[in-house]
Amino acid sequence: MHPDARRILIVNGKGGCGKTTIATNLAVAYANRDRDVALLDNDPQAASTFWGEQRSPDLPKVHVIPAHARANMYETQVFHDRIAQDATRIIIDGQSNARDRDLEDLIRQADVVLIPILPSAIDMHVGERFITELLTHRAYRSAPRPVAVIANRVQPNTDTHRKLEHFLSCLDIPCVATFRDSPIYTQVAETGEGVVDQRDNRAARKETASWWRLADWIDAQEKHAKVTVRELRLRPRAALRAGSKQSNKRA
Ligand SMILES: Nc1ncnc2c1ncn2[C@@H]1O[C@H](COP(=O)(O)OP(=O)(O)O)[C@@H](O)[C@H]1O
Ligand SMILES: [Mg+2]
Repeated sequence: MHPDARRILIVNGKGGCGKTTIATNLAVAYANRDRDVALLDNDPQAASTFWGEQRSPDLPKVHVIPAHARANMYETQVFHDRIAQDATRIIIDGQSNARDRDLEDLIRQADVVLIPILPSAIDMHVGERFITELLTHRAYRSAPRPVAVIANRVQPNTDTHRKLEHFLSCLDIPCVATFRDSPIYTQVAETGEGVVDQRDNRAARKETASWWRLADWIDAQEKHAKVTVRELRLRPRAALRAGSKQSNKRA
């Protein structure tokens, strides 16, 4: 692996919370920063792989690796290994039902763990259980590393947004990014793009700064950082940016 490589795992026990959306958009943000990016598709549903197939070769390159399909040819394995060796940012789109050994394998592969959560009662409930499962997992406890939540599909200044803010403020781990609920995400996904690719689109531009901030946060984490859950608790929480100042005051 490249000495500067960071492996970023996007995972949650719940389907539809935005793992693929976050994995692909983060990959695009790094590719637009001239990083050599590999996107490992760990989900048998292969949504990231499909996304990569739609991406135009004229856009900044994202190497998508269908990791869920076990390599049965020696050549394929060599090809995968070579891509991963050059990559300085390796993003892992984790499958939703990762448990026990599957989850252990994913945790062991990651330098940073990001957990997307939607502002709905069910998603918050399932997300909280998943966070507990992760933080108490033997693989995590034996080598704790930076872990954070991402608030996804937020509609600023709504009741559900406020409930999500309250939920996040009760968690042991920080929320490091907030992305709006916007049709631009489904639009760009269809053509294998990310919002950062769409410089001329107003809806995409509204979201771009949040992706740069997430990339900056990840880049600021030390490689092989070992953090205890206690330290994570003591870290200052990132402000939720999707809301106006007014909503932050109210929260
Ligand atoms: N911030 C967002 N705004 C609008 N739609 C979104 C957003 N994030 C995800 N989606 C949509 O929600 C659906 C599920 O997202 P996806 O990334 O596939 O979730 P997962 O990979 O966790 O199953 C997709 O149709 C996706 O386009
Ligand atoms: Mg997915």
